[in-house]
Amino acid sequence: MKIAFVAPALPKAGAVAVGVMDGGKLAASAAQLDRATKGALTRAIKGSRFKGRPRQMLEILAPAGIGNSRVLLVGLGKPKDIKDLDVEAIGGSVVERLSRSGERGVTVMVDAIPGIAVPAPAYAARCGLGARLRAYRFDRYRTKEKPEDKPSLEKVTVMVANPAAARRAFADMDQVAEGVFLTRNLVSEPANIIYPKTLAAEAKKLTKLGVKVQVLGVAEMRRLGMGALLGVGQGSAQESQLLVMQWSGGARGKGKAAQPLAFVGKGVTFDTGGISIKPAGGMEDMKWDMGGSGVVIGLMRALAGRKAKVNVVGVCGLVENMPSSTAQRPGDIVTSMSGQTIEVINTDAEGRLVLADALWYTQEKFKPRAIVDLATLTGAIIVALGHEYAGLFSNDDKLADKLFAAGKTVGEGVWRLPMGEAYDKAINSDAADMKNVGNRAGGSITAAQFLERFVKKGTPWAHLDIAGVTWSSKDSPTVPKGGTGFGVRLLDRLVADNFER
Ligand code: BES
Ligand code: MN
Ligand code: ZN
Repeated sequence: MKIAFVAPALPKAGAVAVGVMDGGKLAASAAQLDRATKGALTRAIKGSRFKGRPRQMLEILAPAGIGNSRVLLVGLGKPKDIKDLDVEAIGGSVVERLSRSGERGVTVMVDAIPGIAVPAPAYAARCGLGARLRAYRFDRYRTKEKPEDKPSLEKVTVMVANPAAARRAFADMDQVAEGVFLTRNLVSEPANIIYPKTLAAEAKKLTKLGVKVQVLGVAEMRRLGMGALLGVGQGSAQESQLLVMQWSGGARGKGKAAQPLAFVGKGVTFDTGGISIKPAGGMEDMKWDMGGSGVVIGLMRALAGRKAKVNVVGVCGLVENMPSSTAQRPGDIVTSMSGQTIEVINTDAEGRLVLADALWYTQEKFKPRAIVDLATLTGAIIVALGHEYAGLFSNDDKLADKLFAAGKTVGEGVWRLPMGEAYDKAINSDAADMKNVGNRAGGSITAAQFLERFVKKGTPWAHLDIAGVTWSSKDSPTVPKGGTGFGVRLLDRLVADNFER
């Protein structure tokens, strides 16, 4: 979707979208169109249930008096209630409404609305962002779609006084959208296309943007003693990889500001469960069990794209969890890079094994000022939070609060769950330092407790269990169903609001 910003001037043709406030009060451009059409807008509102409420829309086709193919009335609600996210939703909804209408472009006319907290250039930029985010489509494997079934809409032109300011505000948002799309693409790809080596190869493309990318293979990981990660991948014909990305846009030297922030992702490119094999129904979903890594890669794309003034490392443990004669067995005891031993009770609790070594490596190698890991870790988090929030676990209240605030700002909510010694006990083992599962109770929490055993004292750490939010079965205003990219915007905001110099 192409997004452009232009100065106000009534477009002579094509579709236009204009705002209508609560109670049917027309915004300035809407009023202008109403005059030009001798009251067609007012008449249409009178004859319908459209009242200008948020998310209401009304289409008027080819009204007499103007050359436009249609006028889309967009309900804005009460101006004082309009927030950034509402504007994004408006942009997204306009795209959705006209996507298959036959229109190739739409001009969204943004007015300075009295009483609104979002200034017009920011409004225009947010509107463009929402439009872009919603227009995303993963259709590279659809070879037989008829042209008339494909989306027709190609361009959104946002009309606003001071388009240059809107363009400037949009530039960074556009880079973040690119990061979101990269993540959505990666989680949407099937596991015969995206496996550890090919996922690492995709990440290597970020080199062009100034990201330093290194990839460790099995031999190097064996030398480092990563028995937990390697155990998960040993049943697969696909070689496990450790992906290490660095973006150095921040301070140099030895100070705290120069210490990198670390993001660590679970990258199970397919999770069959291994020998503790999963049931067949729905197993195809496990192609997106690399969602945590997908977010870390997309985030690096976003940060590098907008040249964030921060030092960040992204580390992804990439493995395929398969059952085979070389697969690890329930009861196997592995030694992690940290030296701690793990009894593998259930080979389907593999994500934590991968993260254990990825987390330890990250700390040993980079001494990060804080770590956030992301993982589609447990089905239990879906039981707890559904598909609305990601689970947040942390050893640091300040970091947890920052994540909560960032989530609220971008509409990617996180909800904190408790941790503590009583939960931690559940993963003590008689045979090794710990086992990889507790009992059924508090499954997401005991998984987080497991991870915390691989976080060094004094390192602020947060874990996001994104199993419920990585994939969506229903459209929302800025997120079409499928891979959501949840986490990219959240962490980009976390960085922008707290860690950039
Ligand atoms: N990848 C799954 C978790 C998952 C489930 C992600 C549903 C997305 C949707 C994870 O590796 C897993 O299998 N977890 C087990 C843990 C259990 C064996 C303790 C689970 O949640 O059932
Ligand atoms: Mn599993
Ligand atoms: Zn998994």
